Amino acid sequence: MRNILLGVSGGIGACKSVLFASALKKAGFCVQVILSEAAQKFVTPLSFQALTHERVWQDFDQVESAMGHIELARWADLLLIAPSTAHTFAKCAHGHGSDLLSCLYLATTSPVVMVPAMNPSMWQHPAVQRNHALLQQDGVHFWGPVEGSLACGEQGLGRMMEIEDLLKKVQAFKGAYASA
Ligand SMILES: Cc1cc2nc3c(=O)[nH]c(=O)nc-3n(C[C@H](O)[C@H](O)[C@H](O)COP(=O)(O)O)c2cc1C
Repeated sequence: MRNILLGVSGGIGACKSVLFASALKKAGFCVQVILSEAAQKFVTPLSFQALTHERVWQDFDQVESAMGHIELARWADLLLIAPSTAHTFAKCAHGHGSDLLSCLYLATTSPVVMVPAMNPSMWQHPAVQRNHALLQQDGVHFWGPVEGSLACGEQGLGRMMEIEDLLKKVQAFKGAYASA
């Protein structure tokens, strides 16, 4: 397992994903990043590109003029969506394929991991929990959320897992993948 497709959706946790992408690259993974439209309001493609030395994908037009979205899905050994917002949960759980990230989610045959990050009330909302259960039934792995303080000023379950813990999870996943 070498090729990681890092999907970044539009929450404040996207700022953490910049350093997470860098940590993955330093650990020897090849990382291509997809930014949802909302994520692009939080972080820039340039930051990811500078740290991963790879193309950063923002929309279908850009991907189709290069390798094509199915080819990109085939390239991935792991699709890791961090942070994963309530909106991205809903798009993936219901098979929308309405943007590049949710389309790649449908197209990949590799394992998918979601790293949720949202306000604790959002996380506990029945609609989000329903989508979480649907995604688990569909084989999606979840890392977090964890307890802690959130950007909104609240304390509770909804915080994105820390970068070093995510990296340990990826390494363990790689070990399990190699022995499978
Ligand atoms: C400042 C700000 C912070 C946000 N943080 C989160 C978040 O942490 N988690 C979440 O689920 N949505 C969050 N949202 C809402 C998402 O940005 C919104 O649902 C968006 O449509 C997500 O789209 P995407 O999943 O396609 O990236 C936030 C919105 C704003 C304006």
